This record gives sequence, C-alpha cells and structure tokens, in this order.
Amino acid sequence: MNYSIPKDARILVNVCAVGRDPDAWEDPLTFNPSRFLNNDLDFKGNDFELIPFSAGKRTCPGIPLAAKLIPLIVASMVHSFDWYLPNHICSTALDMNEKFGITLLKEQPLLLIPKIRKL
Ligand code: HEM
Repeated sequence: MNYSIPKDARILVNVCAVGRDPDAWEDPLTFNPSRFLNNDLDFKGNDFELIPFSAGKRTCPGIPLAAKLIPLIVASMVHSFDWYLPNHICSTALDMNEKFGITLLKEQPLLLIPKIRKL
C-alpha cells in the first residue's frame, strides 16, 4: 500500500481505530450490540474489521477459553445480581470518555452497585 516499513520496525496496530472505521461500520460510535446479530462476522481473526483477539501468527491462544468463560461470567453476574449506578445516576449520563494509551481505558472508572437477586 505504498508504505515503506524499515527493517526491524516494531509496529503497533491501532485496533481501536479499525473497530471504529466508518467505512466498515455503520454509525461506529454508537453502542449497538445488535449489529452483531444475524451476520457471519467472525471474531477469531478472519474478519479484519473485528479483531479483539488480534489476527495472524501471534493471535491470542486463549480464544477458546475466553469465548466460553466471558459469556459464562457475564451471564452469571446478570443472573445473580441487579445492578445500579451510584446516586441514581441515569445510564445515559455516564461519562464514556476514554483515556488514550496502548490499551484503551475509561477516563472515569465505571462504578456499579450489585444487589444480590433473590432467586
Ligand atoms: C476476552 C479475553 C481476551 C482477549 C480480548 C485477548 C486478547 C489478546 C490479544 C489482542 C492478544 C495479542 C495478539 C497479538 O500480539 O497480535 C493476546 C495475546 C495473548 N493472549 Fe489473549 N486475550 C484474552 C484472553 C486470554 C486468555 C483467557 C488467555 C490464556 C488462558 C490468553 C493468552 C494469551 C497469550 C499467551 C497471548 C500471547 C500470544 C503470543 O504473543 O504469541 N488470552 N490476547
């Protein structure tokens, strides 16, 4: 693509920017998990617009474990607790600004109050 990459250069791929590319995603900054329903997008490194585990030779070897554990952990937390924001803050008022770094963090950490559900 007409880039000259010096020998031995260390290259950091901006995966965050790739995942927010308006050429690949409709309305990329909107939180819209439904966009992943009913399509064949693969998160294991075959579709470059979605590479949370990277791609290629150094892709994450923990994918099979993570793909089973993360849904189980999230489902257990949703099933076992009701979740509240402190001081009755409305979820739409949450500060979603990001802190730039080699990994992307929220500028203000998310504070949540879990209340165990009587099952
Ligand atoms: C949601 C969970 C996880 C995410 C999003 C994730 C993501 C990633 C990413 C982006 C890389 C970098 C790949 C690259 O350099 O191109 C990586 C590497 C790696 N991950 Fe994960 N990972 C997750 C869970 C796990 C788990 C559960 C394990 C082990 C049990 C694991 C083990 C590793 C190892 C050993 C590497 C280094 C691979 C290498 O450099 O050859 N990861 N992971």
